[in-house]
Amino acid sequence: MVSIDLAARIERVLFTEEAIARRTHELAAQITADYTTGGFARDAAGRPLFLVCILRGALVFMADLARAMPVPVEYDLISVSSYGNGTAPGAVRLVKDLQRPIEGRDVLIVEDIIDTGYTIEYLRRNFEARDPASVRVCTLVDKVARREIQTQVDYIGFELEKDAFVVGYGMDYAELYRNLPYIGVLKPEYIR
Ligand code: IMP
Repeated sequence: MVSIDLAARIERVLFTEEAIARRTHELAAQITADYTTGGFARDAAGRPLFLVCILRGALVFMADLARAMPVPVEYDLISVSSYGNGTAPGAVRLVKDLQRPIEGRDVLIVEDIIDTGYTIEYLRRNFEARDPASVRVCTLVDKVARREIQTQVDYIGFELEKDAFVVGYGMDYAELYRNLPYIGVLKPEYIR
């Protein structure tokens, strides 16, 4: 029988709510230090760090990461999707662009998970063409073993050594499970 209890559909939890919160606060502290005293800031006008959330997966992580940073930040949202079959592998399409210009700004792209690397590499190039002061990348989960193209990732929450399709804390399978407060692997009977 199909369970309507989301947690009952999870085979195993990889990262608990507490572990995610702890790691998010560590990342927020590191990013804050880097852009305040650490000399990472390149914005000639001294404006706050500009966070960019990649919808929809990074929404939950970005909300927690931004709130763990005790300094002024701005943020905007962008949405991309992968092209379906029949196109070049890794082709990425912009679905919703930023609403604000990033020219001259220090930009930190916030991603839920980096898999092949195509999405983040597309965005980095897209943003670099807009003449920002700097572009860096923060991801909560990095599937290092799955990388198909090289891409620079500056802040990593957790590395997934072994390949696994994960859900929860913003990440979905067929648009479900984003509201689970932890990250886990689905039971096979819930994957079609
Ligand atoms: P990439 O372009 O292959 O690096 O894909 C990155 C995107 O694929 C992420 O932003 C996610 O939306 C999605 N993705 C990759 N692996 C997973 C996973 O294990 N669970 C949920 N979404 C995933």
